[in-house]
Amino acid sequence: MGAERRRESASPIDMSVNVGRARLRHAVMTASGTAGHADELAAYGALDTLGAVVVKSLSIMPWAGNPAPRVHPVAQGMLNAVGLQGPGMDAWLRDDLPRLAARGADVVVSVWGRSLDEYRDVARALANGLGDGPHPIVAVEVNLSCPNMNGHGIFAHDADLSAAVIASVVGEVSLPVWAKLSPNTDRMVAIAGRVRDAGADAVTLINTVLAMALDPETGRPALGNGGGGLSGRAIHPVAVRAVHDVRAAYPDLPIVGVGGVADGWSAAELIMAGADAVQVGTATFADPAAPFQVARDLEAWLRTHGYRSIGSLRGLAHR
Ligand SMILES: Cc1cc2nc3c(=O)[nH]c(=O)nc-3n(C[C@H](O)[C@H](O)[C@H](O)COP(=O)(O)O)c2cc1C
Repeated sequence: MGAERRRESASPIDMSVNVGRARLRHAVMTASGTAGHADELAAYGALDTLGAVVVKSLSIMPWAGNPAPRVHPVAQGMLNAVGLQGPGMDAWLRDDLPRLAARGADVVVSVWGRSLDEYRDVARALANGLGDGPHPIVAVEVNLSCPNMNGHGIFAHDADLSAAVIASVVGEVSLPVWAKLSPNTDRMVAIAGRVRDAGADAVTLINTVLAMALDPETGRPALGNGGGGLSGRAIHPVAVRAVHDVRAAYPDLPIVGVGGVADGWSAAELIMAGADAVQVGTATFADPAAPFQVARDLEAWLRTHGYRSIGSLRGLAHR
């Protein structure tokens, strides 16, 4: 009996999950913008053990980003205004994707644009670049937390714009499309419904929370850009609420939870709130091995608490 229980508790827990059409080998991924564009984290763990490497958002053109300083530590988190620096989709497909493929990583490619046309163009460049050959990309994550250059504010704060972007990306790629939403609006739940209706396979919740810190010597903003986005443990309860509310409104919409995940419990909490999978972002700046550690911690947490699968934990808050 005792030996049987020991065998049972040592048996592996199935950590694979489905996020819509995407089958992930593990429920824990990296978060966009916190794990580089390619295989930067390979020195800290095996990329092929993660659910996916989610790369920093790419645009149709190379982009220089914001002036320094771009990050600033705050209590329980950090502020950033990196400004979406990147090599552009064509250079990424040529230089970075092969490095991820060589590591056996599954990849989620994040895209951004300043206009509907730029979102369509970056999705088209991706589809053209991949052609019909084999590739490791399991989904396209559309970062909607970008200002619209036509002056309508942040895409993710506007249901019509968000739906239009998702429809145009879905029109270009046959891959699953995830819509990454912003928590800085009281319409996030409604917008989740609109992007689903526009063809999104899943929503990724949440991007950073609008924030600012001042330099005590000058009284001026600490970040070169002025304002920035708050991330890390400080925003974890915001992410739990967002995932919970979207899951309550749309029981069948796949959700990727992100925000302040740093250990087994914070990952489990997002899954209990309704997420199908989670991403680890800011924790990676303190410890580049964090995504791998959280992946192990989540499995240990499930085992310790008597769960045999992610599925039995998912959405527990709603039962
Ligand atoms: C330095 C930095 C850069 C980021 N860059 C991106 C990005 O390019 N695209 C994106 O969708 N989210 C980006 N994010 C947001 C994260 O992916 C994540 O949604 C957010 O930080 C909350 O998760 P966390 O608390 O685990 O960091 C960035 C976050 C940080 C801290």
